[in-house]
Amino acid sequence: MLPDEFVPALRSALTRASFTVDDVYALLGDDAHRALGRNQTVPALRATRGGGPLATLVRLFALQVPVARADADAALPELVEPLVAAGMLAASGSEVRALVDVRPYGDESHDWWIVCDSTPGLDSGGQSSRPMDPEHVLGISEASSSLAQLTVRAPVGRALDIGTGCGVQALHLAQHAREVVATDVNPRALAMASLTARLNGLDAEVRDGSLFDPVAGEAFDLIATNPPFVISPPGSEMLVYRDSGMPGDSVVRHLVENADTHLTDGGWCQILANWAHRAGTDWQDQVGEWLGGRPVDAWILQRELVDPAAYVEMWLADAGLATAPDYVQRYDAWLDWFAAERIEGIGFGWLSLRKTAATPVHRLEEWTGEIAPPVGPAIADWGRRTDLLRALDDAALLDHAFQQAPDLVEETRGPVGAEHPETIVVRLQQGVRRGRQVDTVEAGLVGASDGDLTSGQILDALASLLDRDAHDLRRIYAPSVRELAEDGFLT
Ligand SMILES: C[S@@+](CC[C@H](N)C(=O)[O-])C[C@H]1O[C@@H](n2cnc3c(N)ncnc32)[C@H](O)[C@@H]1O
Repeated sequence: MLPDEFVPALRSALTRASFTVDDVYALLGDDAHRALGRNQTVPALRATRGGGPLATLVRLFALQVPVARADADAALPELVEPLVAAGMLAASGSEVRALVDVRPYGDESHDWWIVCDSTPGLDSGGQSSRPMDPEHVLGISEASSSLAQLTVRAPVGRALDIGTGCGVQALHLAQHAREVVATDVNPRALAMASLTARLNGLDAEVRDGSLFDPVAGEAFDLIATNPPFVISPPGSEMLVYRDSGMPGDSVVRHLVENADTHLTDGGWCQILANWAHRAGTDWQDQVGEWLGGRPVDAWILQRELVDPAAYVEMWLADAGLATAPDYVQRYDAWLDWFAAERIEGIGFGWLSLRKTAATPVHRLEEWTGEIAPPVGPAIADWGRRTDLLRALDDAALLDHAFQQAPDLVEETRGPVGAEHPETIVVRLQQGVRRGRQVDTVEAGLVGASDGDLTSGQILDALASLLDRDAHDLRRIYAPSVRELAEDGFLT
């Protein structure tokens, strides 16, 4: 990749051309932008006919078409030769084309660039018709964004990104960590992640090695990893961005079983993962076994359960094998292997582990319902509430002044014009958009939880209002207070 001496010039050229998410969007317009999201370039080619440095960069990198050498020189002054020498561009005659992708990326407050491999399968009906290069370095995938919004974003000292790829997680981590270490086993990924960091003026130490090997004996305040978690048969050719080479779901097991030894007290390890559902075994038991007696609290959300056939189809298409001559044999062999392994389904989900010195709390649940990203703040809140609730017995719990979650809304249902609703549901609007049907007492309790009155005081007031025995109400509703707090309705 590009040597350091040329990086400032590349950053300046991209900045001067206004090669940002917003300006590329403005140039392309809605339709062409959406078409490009479907890997279709024709509308974007039409939208960039007008020329200029921004259009040249879009054509070169996003649309993967050759551009005139003069246009490339205008967009990337004095950089074409160094980029050719670095293997990022190829020049032939009067034309230049890209060998990698440099793409704008950002959030509300940042304009960044990511260096990765070019998107495969443009203009091929949504499916790549060429097998993927085993060392392909992915750009921003749905999984990348999923982990980025899941990550707890408190300021920390040291952060680790395992399997950094193009360096996207490291980029996010560098915004709130004093020190970032990014690892990978693919030399091409390491080079790209390093350039991504340098191009954005960020410090990330890039290290070669598998899983925790490059950080033996070190501890971090935050580990974020989107590992190669695809569950594929042994012996099939490996794509390093998705296949770990370890059997079944043992790459995730390894991460879970070793995270605590690389975490500081209170440190988080957040993992995107697949796990196998084996005949006769409950997924919660299996993943719970990995957690064992390790000193970590864990909140594990299964977001999706895919059947074996759908899983195989998805990953064969991802590998560019949907039109391969041996597609049927590969499909069949993968299903044979699932059957031999008694794998009946594949769970996809999010694991958030936090090192604790107290008795660990594990919450493993299926949540296929709505999510309002980012989920990271809800995970951080869960950690704080877990510490609080663990320390409070029922009496102490009722002496605590909770506050209703700031994003909570009440949904009522019943006949139009009725004096009282038939059902009341309280629902969170941010993060995991959980709802809970509450009775009159619980609704009153949540409604009056303002951070000043304790839950016990509110229950006593409700007892007198509803003409109920105060002692009874405290005894009956202490478990509700705990559940409402565990689920985040009370904070
Ligand atoms: C799914 S990609 C994630 C890339 C990026 N972090 C993201 O979030 O988009 C998985 C990455 O893990 C790397 N990888 C594969 N096997 C690994 C291993 N044993 N140890 C560390 N990284 C590995 C791959 O090269 C790839 O870059």
